[in-house]
Amino acid sequence: MSRRPVNPSRRIGDGGSMPFVASIQSKSQNSPLLSIGLVILGAILLIGYCYSNSGGASNDIKDLSKLEGGSSCTLEVLQALPILKKAYGDSMRKVLHVGPESCSVVSSLYEEDDTEAWGIEPYELDDVSAKCKSLVRKGIVRVADLKFPLPYRAKSFPLVIVSDALDYLSPKYLNKTLPELVRVSADGVVIFSGYPGQQRARGGEVAKFGRPAKLRSSSWWIRFFVQTSLEENETAGKKFEQASAKKAYAPACQVFHLKSYP
Ligand SMILES: *[C@@H]1O[C@H](CO)[C@@H](O)[C@H](O)[C@H]1NC(C)=O
Ligand SMILES: *[C@@H]1O[C@H](CO)[C@@H](O)[C@H](O)[C@H]1NC(C)=O
Repeated sequence: MSRRPVNPSRRIGDGGSMPFVASIQSKSQNSPLLSIGLVILGAILLIGYCYSNSGGASNDIKDLSKLEGGSSCTLEVLQALPILKKAYGDSMRKVLHVGPESCSVVSSLYEEDDTEAWGIEPYELDDVSAKCKSLVRKGIVRVADLKFPLPYRAKSFPLVIVSDALDYLSPKYLNKTLPELVRVSADGVVIFSGYPGQQRARGGEVAKFGRPAKLRSSSWWIRFFVQTSLEENETAGKKFEQASAKKAYAPACQVFHLKSYP
């Protein structure tokens, strides 16, 4: 996250404007029209430069996709936030996000009005931004192994959103981890998981996550929910689908909605 993508428009904005300045000076006597044109062009470049450097969330998304190399369901969570809001309303005011790159999701949620967010980053944080370090220092994002019970009381968060993390757990651990996520939620758990056959970031994946992602089919997940006595929330699922259709949004990951315990 600390590695910012090289921004091609920045180079045009910075160095590229110098020759224009020189040509304005040399040609301004004989062609005022040309110099006006160049000033306008300069202004356009300047505006473009400003735009390319603003926007926190969009920069987070760019950083994330570069970092992941392959597909990432955490990136998908950021894109699905407006849809999740439609499906869950006020439950989105206090969210726990669980998964790699949790800092990006938590920072994006903080940019929304009236939203509190916490994060669990299941893997070692390396090479993170100052913003992320500060979230960890404040205890807003915690580094915690999902194979152990979560350090929160039952129903601490209206909504728990988990992305990617479950794809790296074997069924033995999933059996414990998923009910744990449900335990700390009050109004539901949303799972973003990769589609089988989806490309994941290569190299570093096994070193970081301990094993390659196992991307399971939707029927596998549904059977797993039944085995572990977890129920899907059909109302939330329908609302999510309707909001997606309205905004012509097609998630690149599988999305499941689970009910919290009564
Ligand atoms: C997970 O739990 C289910 C239901 O309790 C059980 O049938 C299954 O064998 C367990 N799987 C593993 C790998 O422990
Ligand atoms: C199902 O989801 C809706 C939000 O769409 C929520 O209001 C409701 O409480 C959820 N039901 C259960 C049992 O978790």
